[in-house]
Parts: sequence; C-alpha cells; structure tokens
Amino acid sequence: MSQTLYFSVLLIALCSLSECIQRRYHHINKKMTWTEAQKYCREKYTDLATVNNINDMNDMDKLMKSIDYSLLYGIWIGLKNTGVYKWKWSMGDPVKYTNWYNGDSNGSGQCVYMRDGSWYHQDCKVNMRFICYNESSKGFIIDDSSVSWRKAQTFCRQHHTDLISVRNQIENEQIQKIMNDTNISEVWIGLFSDSWEWSDESESGFRNWYPIEPNNPYTEKCAAFGGVKWNNMVCSDCQPFLCHEDNLILIQKNLSWSEALRYCRENHVDLVSVDSEEIQFMVAQVIHRSSTDAVWMGLSHSCDVGLWFWVNEEKVCYQNWAPGNETKLMDCNTEHRAGAVQSGGDHLWISLPQSQQLNFICSRK
Ligand SMILES: *[C@@H]1O[C@H](CO)[C@@H](O)[C@H](O)[C@H]1NC(C)=O
Ligand SMILES: *[C@@H]1O[C@H](CO)[C@@H](O)[C@H](O)[C@H]1NC(C)=O
Ligand SMILES: *[C@@H]1O[C@H](CO)[C@@H](O)[C@H](O)[C@H]1NC(C)=O
Ligand SMILES: *[C@@H]1O[C@H](CO)[C@@H](O)[C@H](O)[C@H]1NC(C)=O
Ligand SMILES: *[C@@H]1O[C@H](CO)[C@@H](O)[C@H](O)[C@H]1NC(C)=O
Repeated sequence: MSQTLYFSVLLIALCSLSECIQRRYHHINKKMTWTEAQKYCREKYTDLATVNNINDMNDMDKLMKSIDYSLLYGIWIGLKNTGVYKWKWSMGDPVKYTNWYNGDSNGSGQCVYMRDGSWYHQDCKVNMRFICYNESSKGFIIDDSSVSWRKAQTFCRQHHTDLISVRNQIENEQIQKIMNDTNISEVWIGLFSDSWEWSDESESGFRNWYPIEPNNPYTEKCAAFGGVKWNNMVCSDCQPFLCHEDNLILIQKNLSWSEALRYCRENHVDLVSVDSEEIQFMVAQVIHRSSTDAVWMGLSHSCDVGLWFWVNEEKVCYQNWAPGNETKLMDCNTEHRAGAVQSGGDHLWISLPQSQQLNFICSRK
C-alpha cells in the first residue's frame, strides 16, 4: 500500500478491554456437536471459548501451537449465527456512541464510513480509504489507498492494531479534523454489522475469519478455529473444542448473602470483592446470564462501625453505587444489608437486605 499519513492523538486512557480480563483457554479433545460442547464448557469451565480482542486471539494461538494441530481441522469456538444483525466494532469495544447521518442506521450495507463527521453504511466491497488505530503509538493513521472494508481491516491488523473504534464525540471530532486537514472526504471506520453472537453474550465484535468465510449462511451456523483463522461449519458436526475459564464465575442459584458467601468459599475462593474498575469490568462480562435483577458481591455493611467493607478486607475505595444506596445506615434494628450489582444498565451497586435470594459471583483465584 502506498504512503500512509500519520497522526498522533492523545486518547483518554481507560482500562483497555484487553488488559482487564485474564482468560484461560482449554482445549478439549473430545468430539461433540457445538451445542454439546457449549454445555460441557459451561459445566466444567465458564463457556465455549469467547475471543474478545487480539490479546485473547494471541492467547488462543499460543495454546493451539502447543498441541498437535495438524490432526484437527476445525475446533469449535463460542460464536454462533443468530440471524439477528447488530453493529459492532472490529476491535471488540462495546458500541456506546454512534453518530449516524440523520440519526438513521437503517438501510442496507454492513460496513460504516465517515464523511463530514457523520456515519453512513455501505456495501463492504466498495473501495475506500480507511483509518487504522495503533495501540502502541495511540495514533490514528489514515491510509492513502482505497480498498474494501475487509482488506482495510486486514491491513490495519498487520501494520497497526485494527480499524479504528470511535468511542465518543471527542474522537469523532479528532478524526474529522484529520480528514479535513488532509482533504480526505470519506474513510472506512471499524464499525460493521453481522449476525454472529458469542455464547457468553459478550458484545465483542472481534472476528478473525478466513478471507471468504463465513459462507453458506443457511447451513453453517457455528464457528470453528481452523488453524490460523476461523471458518463456519454445520453445528451438528462433531468436533473438538475450546472452552474458556474466567477468574470470576456467575452462580445461577438464588441464595441469601451469607449462603452465597459460604457457597463461594466451599466451591471456589470467595464472593467477589469489586475493589477496582478492572474487577467491575470483569463483573460486567459475566453478569449477562444472571436470572435475578441484581447479583450478590462480597460487600457487607457493619452496623457497629457504620461502614461498608469487602469480604477480602480491602477498604472500599473504588465505588459504583446507585444514588442513595451508599448512605451510612444507622438503624441497626432492621436486617443487616449487603451489596449487590445490578444485572442491567451500568451495573450500579445497590444495598439489599441480606436475606434476599440472588444469583452471585465467586472469584476463582
Ligand atoms: C504501530 O505499532 C507497531 C507495533 O504494533 C509499531 O511497530 C509501528 O511502528 C507503529 N506504527 C506507527 C505508524 O506508529
Ligand atoms: C476544514 O478545513 C477548512 C479549510 O480547508 C476550514 O475552513 C474548516 O473550518 C475546517 N472544518 C473543520 C471541521 O475543521
Ligand atoms: C481537496 O480536494 C478537492 C476535490 O478532490 C480539490 O478540488 C481541492 O483542490 C483539494 N484541496 C486541497 C487544499 O488540496
Ligand atoms: C431465581 O429467581 C429468579 C427471579 O425471581 C427466577 O426467574 C429464577 O428462575 C430463579 N432461579 C432458580 C434456580 O430458582
Ligand atoms: C438504590 O438504588 C436503586 C436503583 O437506582 C433505587 O431504586 C433505590 O431507591 C436506592 N436505594 C436507596 C436507599 O436510595
């Protein structure tokens, strides 16, 4: 590809998705259908393997290189075609900000480009210039050649990190300015839509298909790791598979806070102490499948000292309370309270009587 134009832009340093979750993959050398494999992984580990980003992909590659892969040709991962299209970022970030032209994301075309700061969708095969993001330099790079969205993605992954995610208005304006300064009117960004979803309901749009995959959408609805990249296969085929195991596990039993604490200590390590933004992020990853509106965490209130404390004895510094819920409770004649995380929205913390029966999250390390 020809000349690249390079710009460095300071981004607000958030905990990047890749650094937050420590995920362990397990190769299971038994042949099962996709659905049986999913059940097996959910019982023994966390779920069929979810790959949220390039770091997960690298971890999976390392595992696959350590086994004799030449004997296998497809290994189930936890990606399935649901038939329902949704917008996703190539880099795997959740889609929280959009800037559609006229606020309208309807219509055809599954890849997104930007013009005058607004977003439009378009047939992915159309050739256009594109913007990559480079994680190591935190730079936005416009490439000066025109290619299809998939080729742009491949180029960005080879030379930088990925096609860019536009996560807020500031980033949108930064890109608009770069385009204006260089007189480039249209560029592909990393947004696309597909109908594939992860088994653990993670929102990640990270995909690593072989060039002509996925094909045969009506018969091949499950994804498999094919050695280097992914292809889609018939779900009832019997294949070996990959599970993943997260450091946190959601237990779908309805127990009181003290029962939940005992369950975690007997079967895992402890009820989770959410003492940092990183742990809160990990909680958000596992909470999707809870059957109750909130789930217990290892946060308890002591009436004697009028304080909240974590079961791991860390001080409560990081906080994510719903308004009003953190108030010091002086009335100790009523039942003791404990902290729970809301299953929906921004996963805020609420205070509830300890006898309430909820799902809960245990830590495993
Ligand atoms: C982008 O990142 C890679 C490492 O991933 C680095 O080698 C390269 O020099 C960077 N390119 C630019 C233009 O910053
Ligand atoms: C774009 O550049 C032109 C000059 O080429 C300038 O007048 C205009 O204000 C710029 N717009 C933005 C949004 O930066
Ligand atoms: C910007 O591009 C337009 C159309 O391609 C061209 O007419 C114009 O001269 C260019 N302006 C600059 C400053 O390069
Ligand atoms: C737990 O409670 C929720 C909400 O009340 C309910 O939908 C769910 O079926 C219960 N789960 C079990 C295992 O009893
Ligand atoms: C705690 O937060 C929930 C959800 O926002 C709210 O409904 C409830 O009233 C709050 N509790 C108190 C004591 O403010």
